[in-house]
Amino acid sequence: MIEVQDLTKQYAGRTAVDHVSFKVEPGEIVGFLGPNGAGKSTTMRILSGYMPPTSGTARVNGFDVFQQSIELRKSVGYMPEMAPLYTEMRVKEYLNFRAELKGLSGKKLRFRVGEVMELCALTDMRRRLIGNLSKGYRQRVALADALVHQPPLLILDEPTNGLDPVQIRQVRELLRSLRPAHTILLSTHILQEVEAVCDRVIMIHRGRIRAVDTPENLTRKLRAASVVQLEMQGEGEITNLIESLPGVRKATLDTVQEGWLYLSVRVEARHDVREALMELALKQQWKIREMHWQLPSLEDVFVDLAASDPSK
Ligand SMILES: Nc1ncnc2c1ncn2[C@@H]1O[C@H](COP(=O)(O)OP(=O)(O)O)[C@@H](O)[C@H]1O
Ligand SMILES: [Mg+2]
Repeated sequence: MIEVQDLTKQYAGRTAVDHVSFKVEPGEIVGFLGPNGAGKSTTMRILSGYMPPTSGTARVNGFDVFQQSIELRKSVGYMPEMAPLYTEMRVKEYLNFRAELKGLSGKKLRFRVGEVMELCALTDMRRRLIGNLSKGYRQRVALADALVHQPPLLILDEPTNGLDPVQIRQVRELLRSLRPAHTILLSTHILQEVEAVCDRVIMIHRGRIRAVDTPENLTRKLRAASVVQLEMQGEGEITNLIESLPGVRKATLDTVQEGWLYLSVRVEARHDVREALMELALKQQWKIREMHWQLPSLEDVFVDLAASDPSK
């Protein structure tokens, strides 16, 4: 459905997308996960036929994104990051207008606009001016727009960005309800988002793919990267002794300040080593004044993955 090979995009000499290759199979919901500035929107714009790549190729629904962008755009439901909605138009009027642009007319157009308004819970809002809608409703209008011509593939750029928790749940349910008739590529910078809806995750950081995995494996990696921060005083082979505890991967002395040692203890998946650390400290007569278990941010995981990137 999507086949990307060595895709690269440079803006004024800066590389935003750097030799990216991946595939999305029909019926899959794939999450494009990465921190802000990772290159998600750039890739999605290229895949939707709105911007040419600097080099590399991408085929979407069998169309080359560069050579056949007109045909491509008709076969994709693209929801851009900032949906260019017409604030002076009413919801139904806008969707009619968009559906017409996408080649629908007559009975078919009326039926589909009614259907997507129903699907996106917009029917009660159909006469409202878009400019007066809340962010959540505007997102739904953008989603209805992406769906109206029944494209087999949806490319949704941060579809839940800026929504409140209830709205987020509604959009996630809507996305799940679209399978298996639709293939979906959605982007997000939130890990829970991919856990909630995606079959597979493509992690991108600084324009490069860092991992392609299931949400389950990704979560496991996240836990694996957890760290216990320790402030202590003591004698002996401190880091070696800590590393001998089961579940500890590595102990690092970060700094020493006013006689206090600051250590980072990297911990294996699903291990809580805090009690064992306390017992060890007692036995060794170390003094601990602070211990803090820190689950890493997604950013930390990306940095971690980047460090272990064999292509670097
Ligand atoms: N139109 C543009 N002109 C110049 N640089 C851009 C443009 N759009 C994005 N960038 C840069 O490209 C990089 C990737 O951006 P983007 O694709 O928007 O990432 P994401 O969607 O993951 O946040 C960022 O460093 C961003 O500043
Ligand atoms: Mg973006």
